[in-house]
Amino acid sequence: MEAQPHAVAPADSPPLGTLPVQPLLTAEFDADPGAVYRRLRSMYGPVAPVGLMGVPVWLVLDYREVLEVLKNESQWRRDVRYWRARAQGELPPGWPLLAGYEVRQTMFMDDEEHRAARRTHHAALRPFQDAKSPEGWELRAAVARYADELVALLAAESGRTGFADLGAQYTRPLLLMVTAKLFGCPVELGDELVMDLWRMLDGGPDSGPATGRALAAFTRLAAHRRARPGDDLTSYMMLADPDLTDEQLGRELFMNAVYLNDITGNMVLNTLLEVLRGNATVRRSLSAGQLGETVNRAALANPPVANMCFRFAARDVPLGRFWIRAGDIVSPSSAAAHQDLLAIGSSHMVGSTVSTRAHLGWGAGAHQCPSAARELGGLIVTTAVGRVFDHFIRAELTLPCDQLPWRSGPVVRGLRVLPVRYELSADAAALRTPDARRTPSASPSASHRDENRTRGLLASLRRLMFGGKQDR
Ligand code: HEM
Repeated sequence: MEAQPHAVAPADSPPLGTLPVQPLLTAEFDADPGAVYRRLRSMYGPVAPVGLMGVPVWLVLDYREVLEVLKNESQWRRDVRYWRARAQGELPPGWPLLAGYEVRQTMFMDDEEHRAARRTHHAALRPFQDAKSPEGWELRAAVARYADELVALLAAESGRTGFADLGAQYTRPLLLMVTAKLFGCPVELGDELVMDLWRMLDGGPDSGPATGRALAAFTRLAAHRRARPGDDLTSYMMLADPDLTDEQLGRELFMNAVYLNDITGNMVLNTLLEVLRGNATVRRSLSAGQLGETVNRAALANPPVANMCFRFAARDVPLGRFWIRAGDIVSPSSAAAHQDLLAIGSSHMVGSTVSTRAHLGWGAGAHQCPSAARELGGLIVTTAVGRVFDHFIRAELTLPCDQLPWRSGPVVRGLRVLPVRYELSADAAALRTPDARRTPSASPSASHRDENRTRGLLASLRRLMFGGKQDR
């Protein structure tokens, strides 16, 4: 049988490069991306041409079209080599987003290579998300302990009542401590990692060199753990795929670190915000089940991965009102898709518990967040949020919701700060910082080593939190 020829874009359909585009990353987008999505939708329909740092990109806005792009993996490819403008040397020199896309790891692979890489992630992550395994139990206990230590640190530094930024003084250090524990980072590497991840996550002119340094740090971590394997994700990834070189493993850890720090951290902050802006009864009655639902609501209102990573068209295809040509770049926007979902489904889809799960906060299709990673991310978010409401008798936003500063990048949207006026419970004020728990020991046990590592990290985090201001 003869193969069916694929459709070709009609000659009168406008190619992406010929369309006038509006830059996406403007001050308006920073303050109110919803208004920008609405305007683009009214001008162009479900798919709009936009400028991303000087490069034209198709932004996919409507829920149905976003799902199509996420789920149809044979049409929408992840490998950057499918991108025609890159292959033909048409990108502006030093285009700032290319450095990240050139880091070849799971997210930017297709087909069997991609499926094999996901199996490695699954196998290595599984023990940590399983509460019944020793690793899972220990990680759960560590997340809660780190949260308590940060609250204790806040009480020691700022008192039982006062003002705090739950981003800089709680969420970001917590996630960095969890990363150090999960990845098995020794203290020397921990200090370096903390500084470079924050520089890298800040973006801007130094992000290229910071990405290079972070990659080098994760490669060194891989080499370190190869020489001294432990009960950590780095060692388990090597066990799951013994063929991984230190460089390959370093790239995978680098990507996981971004999800674990920036994305999971933003999910914690967005969920805290969802609770803080809710009424007092909602807050008091937070049980584990309701917390899960609050996370879903936060993901629907403000998905941390607001615009998902680029896909590249394998063939010419109609999408929305346009023809997308083979090799064109598209960015599926989960934030815009949620806006569309809320608009079309306000009467019957989003009012119930089931419907909030229709969010695309975890992605969809072949590249969606691996289930073991989702479980782990969910566990960290609910523990981090739950601990705040266990320890704080009172926590009120010190800024009106519409004045909170957001950081809206090409992919991530997250709160820069989450300022609160707080009052801690008497029990919370009596929590001990790691410094207060120093236990002399001639031969360091695993838990003692863990405490030392935490102390080392806390020392550097303290410098970042209370020494120099980090504006992200
Ligand atoms: C609440 C926290 C998290 C959220 C909201 C989240 C969200 C996402 C999303 C939206 C994607 C798909 C991106 C796309 O298709 O362009 C993704 C992929 C991924 N996530 Fe997560 N994630 C979270 C936590 C984590 C954690 C903790 C890890 C690992 C430690 C992780 C590892 C991954 C990996 C490896 C992928 C790539 C999968 C692939 O390309 O096949 N994520 N995540």
